[in-house]
Amino acid sequence: MVARQLALFITLEGVDGSGKSTQSRLLAEALAAAGRPVLLTREPGGAPGAEAVRRFLLETSLAFDPLSESLLHFAARAEHVARTLRPALAAGLVIVCDRFFDSTLAYQGYGQGADRAVIATLIRLLNFTPHLTFVLDVAPEVARCRLVARGTRIDRYERFDAGFLSRVRSGFRAIVSHYPERCIPIDASLPVPTVHAELLAHALRYFRTPAAGLPGARDGRA
Ligand code: TMP
Repeated sequence: MVARQLALFITLEGVDGSGKSTQSRLLAEALAAAGRPVLLTREPGGAPGAEAVRRFLLETSLAFDPLSESLLHFAARAEHVARTLRPALAAGLVIVCDRFFDSTLAYQGYGQGADRAVIATLIRLLNFTPHLTFVLDVAPEVARCRLVARGTRIDRYERFDAGFLSRVRSGFRAIVSHYPERCIPIDASLPVPTVHAELLAHALRYFRTPAAGLPGARDGRA
Protein backbone atom coordinates (compact mmCIF):
# COMPACT_ATOMS: atom_id res chain seq x y z
CA MET A 1 0.00 0.00 0.00
CA VAL A 2 1.31 3.48 -0.86
CA ALA A 3 1.50 5.81 2.16
CA ARG A 4 -0.80 8.84 1.81
CA GLN A 5 1.04 12.17 1.78
CA LEU A 6 -0.21 14.45 4.50
CA ALA A 7 -0.67 17.95 3.13
CA LEU A 8 0.07 20.60 5.70
CA PHE A 9 0.01 24.39 5.61
CA ILE A 10 2.49 25.99 8.04
CA THR A 11 3.00 29.74 8.39
CA LEU A 12 5.72 31.67 10.19
CA GLU A 13 4.96 35.11 11.57
CA GLY A 14 6.75 37.80 13.52
CA VAL A 15 8.14 41.32 13.32
CA ASP A 16 10.87 42.20 10.80
CA GLY A 17 14.14 40.96 12.28
CA SER A 18 12.54 38.05 14.18
CA GLY A 19 14.47 35.55 12.04
CA LYS A 20 11.36 34.19 10.35
CA SER A 21 12.79 33.97 6.82
CA THR A 22 15.87 32.03 8.00
CA GLN A 23 13.65 29.72 10.05
CA SER A 24 11.24 29.19 7.14
CA ARG A 25 14.14 28.10 4.92
CA LEU A 26 15.64 25.81 7.59
CA LEU A 27 12.27 24.22 8.33
CA ALA A 28 11.54 23.63 4.64
CA GLU A 29 14.99 22.09 4.14
CA ALA A 30 14.62 19.82 7.18
CA LEU A 31 11.14 18.62 6.16
CA ALA A 32 12.40 17.93 2.64
CA ALA A 33 15.33 15.99 4.12
CA ALA A 34 12.79 13.99 6.15
CA GLY A 35 11.16 12.93 2.88
CA ARG A 36 8.24 15.37 2.74
CA PRO A 37 7.50 17.16 -0.54
CA VAL A 38 7.77 20.82 0.45
CA LEU A 39 6.86 24.18 -1.04
CA LEU A 40 8.64 27.18 0.49
CA THR A 41 6.82 30.42 -0.26
CA ARG A 42 6.28 33.90 1.16
CA GLU A 43 3.98 36.88 1.44
CA PRO A 44 3.50 39.35 0.06
CA GLY A 45 4.35 37.27 -3.00
CA GLY A 46 4.39 33.62 -3.99
CA ALA A 47 2.68 34.09 -7.38
CA PRO A 48 3.59 36.40 -10.29
CA GLY A 49 0.80 38.91 -9.63
CA ALA A 50 1.43 38.82 -5.90
CA GLU A 51 5.15 39.43 -6.41
CA ALA A 52 4.25 42.48 -8.51
CA VAL A 53 2.13 43.82 -5.63
CA ARG A 54 5.05 43.09 -3.27
CA ARG A 55 7.49 45.15 -5.35
CA PHE A 56 5.03 48.00 -5.46
CA LEU A 57 4.17 47.91 -1.74
CA LEU A 58 7.70 47.61 -0.42
CA GLU A 59 9.18 50.24 -2.72
CA THR A 60 6.50 52.91 -2.88
CA SER A 61 6.88 56.16 -0.98
CA LEU A 62 3.13 56.75 -1.26
CA ALA A 63 1.15 56.88 1.99
CA PHE A 64 -1.91 54.61 2.00
CA ASP A 65 -4.98 54.58 4.14
CA PRO A 66 -4.63 51.46 6.39
CA LEU A 67 -7.73 49.87 4.83
CA SER A 68 -6.37 50.42 1.29
CA GLU A 69 -3.10 48.87 2.38
CA SER A 70 -4.92 45.87 3.89
CA LEU A 71 -6.82 45.38 0.64
CA LEU A 72 -3.61 45.47 -1.39
CA HIS A 73 -2.16 42.74 0.82
CA PHE A 74 -5.35 40.71 0.44
CA ALA A 75 -5.31 41.17 -3.35
CA ALA A 76 -1.80 39.69 -3.40
CA ARG A 77 -2.92 36.96 -0.98
CA ALA A 78 -5.96 35.94 -3.04
CA GLU A 79 -3.64 35.53 -6.02
CA HIS A 80 -1.18 33.49 -3.94
CA VAL A 81 -3.94 31.21 -2.60
CA ALA A 82 -5.60 30.66 -5.98
CA ARG A 83 -2.49 30.11 -8.08
CA THR A 84 -0.02 28.54 -5.66
CA LEU A 85 -1.34 27.47 -2.25
CA ARG A 86 -4.59 25.64 -3.12
CA PRO A 87 -2.96 23.66 -5.96
CA ALA A 88 0.03 22.82 -3.72
CA LEU A 89 -2.18 21.57 -0.91
CA ALA A 90 -4.32 19.58 -3.34
CA ALA A 91 -1.12 17.97 -4.64
CA GLY A 92 -0.24 16.85 -1.10
CA LEU A 93 2.65 19.23 -0.49
CA VAL A 94 3.74 20.58 2.85
CA ILE A 95 3.66 24.37 2.53
CA VAL A 96 6.03 26.51 4.57
CA CYS A 97 4.91 30.11 4.14
CA ASP A 98 6.87 33.13 5.39
CA ARG A 99 3.98 35.39 6.56
CA PHE A 100 0.25 35.09 5.85
CA PHE A 101 -2.94 36.83 6.97
CA ASP A 102 -1.80 37.25 10.58
CA SER A 103 0.70 39.79 9.22
CA THR A 104 -2.17 41.94 7.91
CA LEU A 105 -3.89 41.75 11.30
CA ALA A 106 -0.66 42.63 13.12
CA TYR A 107 0.81 45.26 10.74
CA GLN A 108 -2.25 46.95 9.26
CA GLY A 109 -4.71 46.19 12.09
CA TYR A 110 -2.69 46.55 15.30
CA GLY A 111 0.20 48.55 13.79
CA GLN A 112 -1.53 50.99 11.45
CA GLY A 113 -5.02 51.06 12.95
CA ALA A 114 -7.05 49.43 10.15
CA ASP A 115 -10.45 48.12 11.28
CA ARG A 116 -9.68 44.60 12.52
CA ALA A 117 -13.29 43.47 12.04
CA VAL A 118 -12.92 44.23 8.31
CA ILE A 119 -9.68 42.25 8.18
CA ALA A 120 -11.43 39.37 9.98
CA THR A 121 -14.14 39.46 7.29
CA LEU A 122 -11.47 39.32 4.57
CA ILE A 123 -9.94 36.33 6.34
CA ARG A 124 -13.31 34.57 6.34
CA LEU A 125 -13.83 35.33 2.65
CA LEU A 126 -10.38 34.00 1.80
CA ASN A 127 -11.41 30.70 3.42
CA PHE A 128 -7.88 29.33 3.65
CA THR A 129 -6.40 29.00 7.13
CA PRO A 130 -3.04 27.54 8.15
CA HIS A 131 -3.00 24.29 10.14
CA LEU A 132 -0.09 25.58 12.18
CA THR A 133 1.34 29.06 12.74
CA PHE A 134 4.63 29.75 14.48
CA VAL A 135 4.76 33.27 15.90
CA LEU A 136 8.39 34.26 16.47
CA ASP A 137 8.53 36.70 19.33
CA VAL A 138 11.47 39.03 19.90
CA ALA A 139 11.88 42.44 21.55
CA PRO A 140 11.67 45.31 19.01
CA GLU A 141 15.15 46.56 20.05
CA VAL A 142 16.70 43.15 19.29
CA ALA A 143 14.81 42.99 15.98
CA ARG A 144 16.03 46.48 15.02
CA CYS A 145 19.66 45.57 15.79
CA ARG A 146 19.35 42.48 13.59
CA LEU A 147 17.95 44.57 10.73
CA VAL A 148 20.82 47.06 11.00
CA ALA A 149 23.40 44.24 11.22
CA ARG A 150 21.84 42.60 8.13
CA GLY A 151 22.73 45.74 6.21
CA THR A 152 20.21 45.22 3.41
CA ARG A 153 17.95 47.89 1.98
CA ILE A 154 15.35 49.14 4.47
CA ASP A 155 11.82 48.68 3.08
CA ARG A 156 8.67 50.70 3.63
CA TYR A 157 7.63 48.90 6.83
CA GLU A 158 11.10 48.90 8.32
CA ARG A 159 11.09 52.70 8.05
CA PHE A 160 8.19 52.96 10.51
CA ASP A 161 9.15 54.08 14.04
CA ALA A 162 9.88 51.83 17.06
CA GLY A 163 6.37 52.43 18.42
CA PHE A 164 4.97 50.81 15.29
CA LEU A 165 7.11 47.70 15.79
CA SER A 166 5.92 47.48 19.42
CA ARG A 167 2.28 47.66 18.35
CA VAL A 168 2.90 44.97 15.74
CA ARG A 169 4.55 42.76 18.35
CA SER A 170 1.61 43.25 20.75
CA GLY A 171 -0.69 42.42 17.84
CA PHE A 172 1.07 39.12 17.24
CA ARG A 173 0.83 38.33 20.95
CA ALA A 174 -2.91 39.04 20.89
CA ILE A 175 -3.30 36.79 17.86
CA VAL A 176 -1.54 33.95 19.73
CA SER A 177 -3.93 34.33 22.64
CA HIS A 178 -7.00 34.45 20.34
CA TYR A 179 -6.01 31.35 18.37
CA PRO A 180 -4.14 29.03 20.76
CA GLU A 181 -5.24 25.95 18.80
CA ARG A 182 -3.43 27.18 15.69
CA CYS A 183 -0.67 29.53 16.89
CA ILE A 184 2.47 28.49 18.75
CA PRO A 185 4.55 31.27 20.33
CA ILE A 186 8.29 30.86 19.88
CA ASP A 187 11.04 32.69 21.76
CA ALA A 188 13.03 34.04 18.80
CA SER A 189 15.73 35.61 20.97
CA LEU A 190 17.27 32.11 21.31
CA PRO A 191 20.04 30.94 18.95
CA VAL A 192 19.00 30.00 15.40
CA PRO A 193 19.63 26.22 15.84
CA THR A 194 17.58 26.15 19.07
CA VAL A 195 14.62 27.89 17.45
CA HIS A 196 14.90 25.60 14.42
CA ALA A 197 14.89 22.46 16.57
CA GLU A 198 11.73 23.64 18.32
CA LEU A 199 9.88 24.39 15.08
CA LEU A 200 10.87 21.09 13.53
CA ALA A 201 9.78 19.15 16.60
CA HIS A 202 6.35 20.81 16.52
CA ALA A 203 5.96 20.17 12.79
CA LEU A 204 6.97 16.51 13.05
CA ARG A 205 4.63 16.05 16.01
CA TYR A 206 1.84 17.37 13.82
CA PHE A 207 2.49 14.61 11.28
CA ARG A 208 2.05 12.05 14.03
CA THR A 209 -1.18 13.56 15.36
CA PRO A 210 -2.70 15.77 12.65
CA ALA A 211 -5.69 17.93 13.52
CA ALA A 212 -8.77 17.06 11.50
CA GLY A 213 -9.56 18.72 8.21
CA LEU A 214 -7.97 21.03 5.69
CA PRO A 215 -7.62 24.79 5.97
CA GLY A 216 -10.99 26.46 6.12
CA ALA A 217 -12.70 29.53 7.47
CA ARG A 218 -12.01 28.76 11.10
CA ASP A 219 -10.55 32.15 12.02
CA GLY A 220 -13.15 34.84 12.24
CA ARG A 221 -12.13 36.59 15.42
CA ALA A 222 -9.71 39.50 15.54
P1 TMP B 1 9.17 40.42 4.69
O1 TMP B 1 10.25 41.43 4.96
O2 TMP B 1 8.92 39.48 5.80
O3 TMP B 1 9.36 39.74 3.37
O4 TMP B 1 7.78 41.23 4.57
C1 TMP B 1 7.69 42.44 3.90
C2 TMP B 1 7.00 43.46 4.72
O5 TMP B 1 5.60 43.42 4.45
C3 TMP B 1 7.16 43.32 6.22
O6 TMP B 1 7.71 44.53 6.72
C4 TMP B 1 5.77 43.16 6.75
C5 TMP B 1 4.90 43.68 5.65
N1 TMP B 1 3.57 43.03 5.55
C6 TMP B 1 2.45 43.74 5.96
O7 TMP B 1 2.55 44.88 6.42
N2 TMP B 1 1.22 43.14 5.84
C7 TMP B 1 1.06 41.87 5.34
O8 TMP B 1 -0.06 41.37 5.24
C8 TMP B 1 2.25 41.16 4.92
C9 TMP B 1 2.13 39.77 4.38
C10 TMP B 1 3.48 41.77 5.06
